[in-house]
Amino acid sequence: MPPVDVVIMAAGKGTRMKSAKPKVLHRLAGRPLIEHVLEAVALLGARQVAVVTGHGAQDVEDALARGADRAKRPAPAFVRQEPQLGTGHAVMQALPLLEDDGVTLVLNGDVPLVEPGTLQALVDRCGPRQLVLLSVVRDDPTGYGRILRSGEAVWGIVEQKDANEDELSIREVYTGVLAAPTALLKRWLPRIGNRNAQGEYYLTDVVKIASEDGADVVALKAADLLQVEGINSPHELAALERAHQRRKAHSLMDRGVRFADPERFDLRGTLECGQDVEIDVNCLFEGDVSLGDGVRIGANCVVANARIEAGAVIHPFTHIDGERSGVVVGEGALVGPFARLRPGANLAAQVHVGNFVEIKNSTLGHGAKANHLAYLGDATVGERVNYGAGSITANYDGANKHRTVVEADAHIGSNCVLVAPVSIGEGATVGAGSVITKDAPAGKLSVARGRQVTIEGWKRPAKGG
Ligand code: UD1
Ligand code: CA
Repeated sequence: MPPVDVVIMAAGKGTRMKSAKPKVLHRLAGRPLIEHVLEAVALLGARQVAVVTGHGAQDVEDALARGADRAKRPAPAFVRQEPQLGTGHAVMQALPLLEDDGVTLVLNGDVPLVEPGTLQALVDRCGPRQLVLLSVVRDDPTGYGRILRSGEAVWGIVEQKDANEDELSIREVYTGVLAAPTALLKRWLPRIGNRNAQGEYYLTDVVKIASEDGADVVALKAADLLQVEGINSPHELAALERAHQRRKAHSLMDRGVRFADPERFDLRGTLECGQDVEIDVNCLFEGDVSLGDGVRIGANCVVANARIEAGAVIHPFTHIDGERSGVVVGEGALVGPFARLRPGANLAAQVHVGNFVEIKNSTLGHGAKANHLAYLGDATVGERVNYGAGSITANYDGANKHRTVVEADAHIGSNCVLVAPVSIGEGATVGAGSVITKDAPAGKLSVARGRQVTIEGWKRPAKGG
């Protein structure tokens, strides 16, 4: 098998997006369109990937370099196309990067859902004298290049604006994806002219040139429209997003996940689910999330970069984002409604975290509870601790963060401030309203409320005064 070199076209303006942002950077399932293409390509084991940039070139190049960093894959090579004189001209710019012994696979940066298997099939069909196109049959072919064929043999593609009435009735269209032997592509491309309705150098003209040259041209028909759908407008972007999300929801349902409504589910990353997982409406999952057996996610939750273990219940309106450190919710834990778990929140089994509780970089031991209006940051909380309503760790002194340790079975009353670094001993009780600045001894009651002050001669201000 000859080596594969990939050219991704991403120089076009995308006028119909009506956006200042380059088209290929608009997001599908949370990632730029072109990142999806690069991900499909990564599975091909290509020798080289070149991206042709033009409109917003710097932005595209910077975004892809950052993306490569994050995904830990090599950044593609960039070739600038200035000005943009058409798709044939775009591929021509990349020719100096392509070695003659390879197969060149041409892709569109704005067709995000093309699958690696489809690309591999194209490459496999490509021979030393064979050009392979990816086509698709559409009910409404308007706007696309029509495939001209006699039986198996394809001999041309005619663009919408150049087609006659007979040609316009052809429903098999070119998808923008082709594979060609590089040595021949280098001979064919310079022969493309721009005498057509749009005054552009059409890549699609290589088909006629190749068949005149005696090469075989075949078109493989894509089985699935989603794979070849390009994005030209906010409408198309939203429609493809929904179709893509629906497909993901259905594949989770195939594995037994139950959705209250698969139309109201969004996944921007990976979601692994055990058995008997239930997801209510309007939930969004991002990054890498796993849900253990029997986990239930209530309505309107955002869950990102987290592991939710078996039997845990996340009540409605909870926001969980582990970012890089992750979040763990232990077996049978109850979280929410309206809870917020931030990076490094690590809840053991049977923990209860209730409404308006924020937890960051803290571990809570088995059965610990923080049920109302509380903050735990940089804390280690022991088993069965009860952390009262309105209590917080004052973990930040304006310059540095400090840890709070609450040992097992301690009981923190309501409205306490634990001024870190500080520790509360095993089985200790902290009285309501205490500001704790010194370690509290095990098994004892610590109260630090300041003296009650009454100011004489004070008058309540008059209303409207
Ligand atoms: C192209 C095909 C058409 C096909 C359709 C599928 C040509 C001449 N026509 O038409 O047969 O049915 O795709 O979607 O190829 N681009 C550049 N530089 C340019 C022009 C375009 O990089 O100078 C890039 C665009 O950013 C885009 C891709 O090439 O990613 C396709 O360009 P676009 O203008 O959308 O081509 P279509 O007219 O849709
Ligand atoms: Ca297009």
